[in-house]
Amino acid sequence: YKGLKYDNCNFEVKEYGVGLVTINRPKALNALCDALYQDLHDIITKMDKDEKIGAIVLTGSDRAFAAGADIKEMSDKIYPATYSTDMLAWWENIAKVRTPTIAAVNGFALGGGCELAMMCDIILAGDKAQFGQPEIKLGTIPGMGGSQRFTRAVGKARAMEMILTGDFMKADEACTRGLVSRVVPSEELVDDALKTAKKIAGMSRPIALLAKEAVNAAFETTLDTGLRFERRLFHSTFATQDQKEGMSAFSEKRTPAWKHK
Ligand code: CAA
Repeated sequence: YKGLKYDNCNFEVKEYGVGLVTINRPKALNALCDALYQDLHDIITKMDKDEKIGAIVLTGSDRAFAAGADIKEMSDKIYPATYSTDMLAWWENIAKVRTPTIAAVNGFALGGGCELAMMCDIILAGDKAQFGQPEIKLGTIPGMGGSQRFTRAVGKARAMEMILTGDFMKADEACTRGLVSRVVPSEELVDDALKTAKKIAGMSRPIALLAKEAVNAAFETTLDTGLRFERRLFHSTFATQDQKEGMSAFSEKRTPAWKHK
């Protein structure tokens, strides 16, 4: 797939096992039209299946990560079609990717753009990034997870305020509230995200996938079930060669040579 070209996204596979996907629809501030979804889904699915890729970075432009679902494409839709196609449900496929994902957000991450960033495992923000769920100003509400993931990330009071007023949140506040993991000077953002992704790709791939699954369970289950799920996954790491390798390497004071199995 490495030579493929897409209209709305560019991508690269770094030799150190990281996939970089750049949303590229500048004329609409990277608004997430259906064709863009198809491109993004195709690239990310191919990267997810590529065992040489240990982490994926998703970014946009300096001005916009993505300014939301495409308002012009949506405006004339009628209810029966939205319901019968389960409009926007397909975006959940991006959240279901098993490879660890990092959203590197510069500029606007609004509506579907904020929701797309929140589908990634880690959000790194450039210092000029702005987040928001301004759908209410268009006479609609979040439809790609904003009311759920934003609320889990920043808590009910602030999520309610943002979703009911449509106001934006700056990078520093997003960081203080736990929506993003770190704020980085915008010109260093993509390099920083690639460096973080490289660190993850340098781990045992199956173990990183298990770690991701364990953390995600925290959002889906009760504490007791989540703790049991974590323990079972932890036990299962002892079935891998990489657990033996990692612990031997520690004792022998050397760098582990992962077998990824
Ligand atoms: N859909 C379609 N086109 C969009 C867009 C969107 N979400 N956001 C921006 N654009 C287009 C603009 O129409 C404009 O195109 P033209 O030059 O052809 O007029 C171009 O991108 C540049 O945008 P602006 O001129 O508006 O740029 P600005 O700097 O003045 O403002 C902005 C930037 C504040 C982000 C403003 O563009 C904006 O408010 N965008 C819409 C944000 C929004 O409401 N997002 C939520 C969408 S609904 C949704 O996402 C539902 C869901 O939950 C899935």
